[in-house]
Amino acid sequence: VPAESALKDIFAEDFHIGAAVSSNTIKSQESLLTHHFNSITAENEMKFASVHPEEELYTFEEADQIVDFARKHGMAVRGHTLVWHNQTTDWLFRDEQNQLVSKAVLYERIRSHIQTVVGRYKGDIYAWDVVNEVIADDGDQLLRTSSWTEIAGDEFIAKAFEYAHAADPNALLFYNDYNESHPSKRDKIYTLVKSLLDRGVPIHGIGLQAHWNLFNPSLDDIRAAIEKYASLGLQLQLTELDVSVFRFEDKRADLTEPEPGMLEQQAEFYEAVFKLLKEYSDVISAVTFWGAADDHTWLSDFPVRGRKNWPLLFDERHRPKPAYYRLAALA
Ligand code: XIL
Repeated sequence: VPAESALKDIFAEDFHIGAAVSSNTIKSQESLLTHHFNSITAENEMKFASVHPEEELYTFEEADQIVDFARKHGMAVRGHTLVWHNQTTDWLFRDEQNQLVSKAVLYERIRSHIQTVVGRYKGDIYAWDVVNEVIADDGDQLLRTSSWTEIAGDEFIAKAFEYAHAADPNALLFYNDYNESHPSKRDKIYTLVKSLLDRGVPIHGIGLQAHWNLFNPSLDDIRAAIEKYASLGLQLQLTELDVSVFRFEDKRADLTEPEPGMLEQQAEFYEAVFKLLKEYSDVISAVTFWGAADDHTWLSDFPVRGRKNWPLLFDERHRPKPAYYRLAALA
């Protein structure tokens, strides 16, 4: 068991400290997870394709294991995610002739999905990422084009929140997205969420995924995003924080160890970020890392397959990295 002070204690006055887990890492990272974190998110196990591969088939075994783990260790659980363009089985959008279904059919299917999944974990999952990544990255278009928009314009977004609220009136409902601190996307996210609020749609928070790197975004852009979202009167959570050592455009694949200085630079970035987040602890209720340690992170496969990255606070053997010590000093 690691002896160092627990992240969840260091930030006890500020926010929950979470980690994304899988049905494997709740075993391979058990002592790290239970020592440092008081919240978890299933990295993949609650996504549409994982729990509902066929219309008549729900597969909850791995999701259940994760919820049981949290219950056993007294951890909070965030649910991820109900409406998304990825990791969603195509049957949802298609009829027997493989044509796109009508709006009415799509709504009935997603209503029933949300009722079943949110209903199953009522009382265990306190917050759901109801709608994930619907905003377009580039250009003037507000929404990304997907089967969702092709069938249902933009109305499916409000519907999803209404169905989730009906399934569990106590759950906190989030809109979640990445590039959330980039000024133009930030403004689009703000516009979408404001229009939902203006229409009385039940939404309680904005999830800032926070897939960041040593060069991006700037602290000023992070601050501006927090201020703008908070002005809507909603709570904010960082839902998928990691700090890649590579710029997104950097496709080098030959590094087997971090370059000199990289982990120190990462420590400085993490320290500056958490100092800033602490200033906003009245609106930020949780900070979840997208993984617990560098032995298991999606950045080993994205955007360059098989390339090592060192984005988290603990190394491949679960030892604290320089960034951990900087955060511990903020206690
Ligand atoms: C990622 C998982 O970490 C990977 O294991 C999976 O292969 C792809 O999805 N935004 C999200 C998360 O909302 O669900 C994604 O998770 C990372 C980007």
